[in-house]
Amino acid sequence: MARFYVTTPIYYVNDVPHIGHAYTTVAADALRRFHALLGEESRMLTGTDEHGLKVEREALARGKSPKEFVDDVSARFRETWPELEVESDFIRTTDPAHKAFVQDLWREIEKRGDLYEGEYEDWYCVGCESFKTEKELLPGNLCPLHNKPVERLKEKTFFFRLSKWEKPLLSFYERHPKFIEPATRRNEVVSFVESGLKDLSVSRTSFTWGIPVPGQDRHVMYVWFDALANYRSFLGPKGGAEARFWPPGGRVVHLVGKDILRFHAVYWPAFLLAAGYTEDELPSQVFAHGFLTVDGQKMSKSLHNVVDPRHVVKVLGPEVLRYHLLRAFVFGPDGDFDHAALLERYNADLGKNLGNLLNRTLGLCAKLTGGKVPPRGDLGPLEHELAQTIESSSAAGRTAWEEVAPHRALEATWAIASAANLYVDRAAPWAAAKSGDTARLSTILATLLEALEILSVMMWPALPSKSAEMRAQLGLPPVAPKVGEDLWPARLTGPGAGRALGEGAPLFPTFDKDKQAALLAELAPTRAGAAPAASPATNAPADTAAPSLAVAPSTAAPAVSASITYDQFSAVDLRIGLVKTCEKVPKKDKLLRLTVDLGEAEPRTIIAGLALTFAPEQLVGRNVIVVTNLAPRDFGKGLVSHGMLLATGPSEALHLATIDGDVAPGSRLK
Ligand code: MSP
Repeated sequence: MARFYVTTPIYYVNDVPHIGHAYTTVAADALRRFHALLGEESRMLTGTDEHGLKVEREALARGKSPKEFVDDVSARFRETWPELEVESDFIRTTDPAHKAFVQDLWREIEKRGDLYEGEYEDWYCVGCESFKTEKELLPGNLCPLHNKPVERLKEKTFFFRLSKWEKPLLSFYERHPKFIEPATRRNEVVSFVESGLKDLSVSRTSFTWGIPVPGQDRHVMYVWFDALANYRSFLGPKGGAEARFWPPGGRVVHLVGKDILRFHAVYWPAFLLAAGYTEDELPSQVFAHGFLTVDGQKMSKSLHNVVDPRHVVKVLGPEVLRYHLLRAFVFGPDGDFDHAALLERYNADLGKNLGNLLNRTLGLCAKLTGGKVPPRGDLGPLEHELAQTIESSSAAGRTAWEEVAPHRALEATWAIASAANLYVDRAAPWAAAKSGDTARLSTILATLLEALEILSVMMWPALPSKSAEMRAQLGLPPVAPKVGEDLWPARLTGPGAGRALGEGAPLFPTFDKDKQAALLAELAPTRAGAAPAASPATNAPADTAAPSLAVAPSTAAPAVSASITYDQFSAVDLRIGLVKTCEKVPKKDKLLRLTVDLGEAEPRTIIAGLALTFAPEQLVGRNVIVVTNLAPRDFGKGLVSHGMLLATGPSEALHLATIDGDVAPGSRLK
């Protein structure tokens, strides 16, 4: 029985999930589902890569212990994927079973003689968690991928005898031409190996956040040695039940970004060979995809354009995002995640093409066949034409999924929807109804219903819950793959006469230009901490307004900022204040000048942008919450603010933060 095991890279926890991670993860989920449809025993693995210098430094920068930090961020990854309808196993490199497996792998390689002790000195990029040769660096000793300075590292280390595996790897690539895909990437890897492999430093002594080298307390393992092993460690020891998914019993496909192909296509098989795995026990394929830019720009925290997949899901639902990721990008080259294109594709492919086909067909059935699947009579030339498209497109879709080309698979699937829409126009069921040709009418509608049923199966890997909704409308149960049963459709066969159809409802409601503009505004990238939606600080320079989204105000709350430590929080001195006096500031429409009792010898002067919402007299005598240790802000003309009030909302409709009960001025909030 065929078995299929697909993996994503395990993600570093120094970042939160973004659209690039979602891209691979959704693709892996869709592939797993496709193989399940074929009746294969299939599973998927994703997870988090939690050791190494990069993670240790990030944790320290946030004032947390590495363990606390990785627990938090790993949970964010784990929670995100089900929201995108990804059904996957999840591994953490801090799992004890993983650690034990990796230590065994180390021992095995050591026993076979491919690990030795030495000293290493070279440039190291913490972003890549990888040594760099002089040749690879940009002027100024910058890493070409991260554009950041590399560090000089010199330390005692264990070396892995990578050089020994140069020839075996080259002959393995030769014998397994599909091991690295796409072909252009394969050529890059082959040239890299041909140019000579140096032994690899695989342990570190300058930090401790890693898996200890067995019997060598001062050394922790190189993070890539630890991380790559996750794919195999998850399945447990050789001979165990789960190990059946590993070759030769199963087919393993690693999906990776182009930046980490070398680790997967060179180091990983070399580690396995050195540990005694045979060529038949190496992964079946490493498939490298390109990088996504966002609206034409590289994604970066400093540009505030990092797309949070959960935000897109909140606005449009998971399936629209899944469809776009799988359909818009050729799996291999780089692509651009363009928000306007996402909405257009939604309207065109999902709303107008597939959604309309379903609506039209069910509408006609409700009127003309009593809400049941009618019997199918003889097929005419139009039906034969449609049948041919179904046959060729379902075969093309199957091949495309098998070749890890989701965009082609969906193109083939949607070719059936387009052909069926054309068929309705040409077969004109309404004309058959008008002339009383019931047999012809039944044949047309039965053909359409079956085309929809076929579509509901072929779309399932990409759009599982929309497939279920569609099938409910067609009076069918959700797609339920079974091991050993191939459910992929091949042709029209004409089943189902007499089946009661379900209630019709728009599957993908389309929207007009205004709605599109509003959605675009709502979709504008909001990364954790990027920018608040409404002015939070009433003493921000009122004329320039507090930082806010560069788009129309959204109804959705902005993403929650990245976590801070308690110490960082407590550095902000928040106190209860009592407003003693308040007056307008001449020639400044938005500003009020307040004096606020904070339990100090004198009330403080605070300038706040409250005048569009409040008349001065409305504020006197009110309790407010004040940030008291913000540096004073000079508004010019002798106006200096010595604190900031907390509020939310647009400038014309602000709500002040306050406190319940009778609290003494100057009381601290914590
Ligand atoms: N932890 C390692 C992988 C270890 S696997 C044994 C790692 N993690 S990562 O979080 O930095 O990157 C994970 C994946 O995200 C990589 O495949 C990388 O290519 C991918 N992407 C990161 N940014 C991306 C885009 N902008 N677009 C598409 N994928 C991108 O590397």
